[in-house]
Amino acid sequence: MMKNKIEGKVAIITGGASGIGETTARLFADHGVRMIVIADIQDELGQQVAISIGTDKCNYVHCDVTDEEQVKALVESTVQNYGQLDIMFSNAGIVSSSDQTVVDLDFSAFDRLFAINVRGMAACVKHAARAMVEGGVRGSIVCTASVAGTRGGKRRTDYHMSKHAVLGLVRSASLQLGVHGIRVNCVSPHGLATPLTCESYNMSAEEVEKIFEPHIPLKGVALRAGHVADAVLFLACGDSEFISGHDLVVDGGFISR
Ligand SMILES: NC(=O)c1ccc[n+]([C@@H]2O[C@H](COP(=O)([O-])OP(=O)(O)OC[C@H]3O[C@@H](n4cnc5c(N)ncnc54)[C@H](O)[C@@H]3O)[C@@H](O)[C@H]2O)c1
Repeated sequence: MMKNKIEGKVAIITGGASGIGETTARLFADHGVRMIVIADIQDELGQQVAISIGTDKCNYVHCDVTDEEQVKALVESTVQNYGQLDIMFSNAGIVSSSDQTVVDLDFSAFDRLFAINVRGMAACVKHAARAMVEGGVRGSIVCTASVAGTRGGKRRTDYHMSKHAVLGLVRSASLQLGVHGIRVNCVSPHGLATPLTCESYNMSAEEVEKIFEPHIPLKGVALRAGHVADAVLFLACGDSEFISGHDLVVDGGFISR
């Protein structure tokens, strides 16, 4: 693969201490990024990731995306320290804490999930867009949705609803920000083994992959975080210069079934 697709760019990755965010941070580092700011609430893990990537290229900042002030401060400090913001990968998210079928919805869990997956996502898009407009940067904003954003679910109602909302955010923001040359897209992975799913199923990565495998038309390859990171890099870099408002599914043909 051609290297240095995002040479000299400054990027923020929320949820960058683990899973898809961490893998994307490592891929960005391989592609000539000037600075990656990892924003997460897992401070020790986030700092370890930043150190292993190299503190000349990667910095960890504590940011709980449910708190708009923390998101605003994250974006402002990034612009102050590194001059501009070119890429926002708004990726932090959680899954339902229980089955959350519609008849048994627990609304305190529902509100907590929405505060992260929907409100937090919108706060990151808002403040990234403001910084890009103010800085005159033709930036790229990428959100993590899910195949759950276009399909219903037999359980995890709140999670499916939240990912549908991410698509609404991406489509609206792309319409509104196009005039400034800012692109807004999302990636929608099928289920894959990350700490999120391994913890929620209480299973090993291999066991989680076995659960997802029968649902995927494309055989002979398991979805890994690296596949999702490749899609994020494509949307973040100039290769996707004319693509905005798009939902790039990374699902081995799952939603076409
Ligand atoms: N793993 C999957 O099967 C899958 C499938 C489709 C979509 N996704 C989405 O991918 C994204 C990343 O998930 P992952 O699988 O890499 O999980 P992960 O748990 O490995 O990573 C998510 C990160 O988000 C962070 N986070 C959680 N709440 C936060 C908050 N309030 N503020 C800041 N950071 C916070 C966590 O600390 C964690 O480091 C999520 O939006 C998830 O919904 C995951």
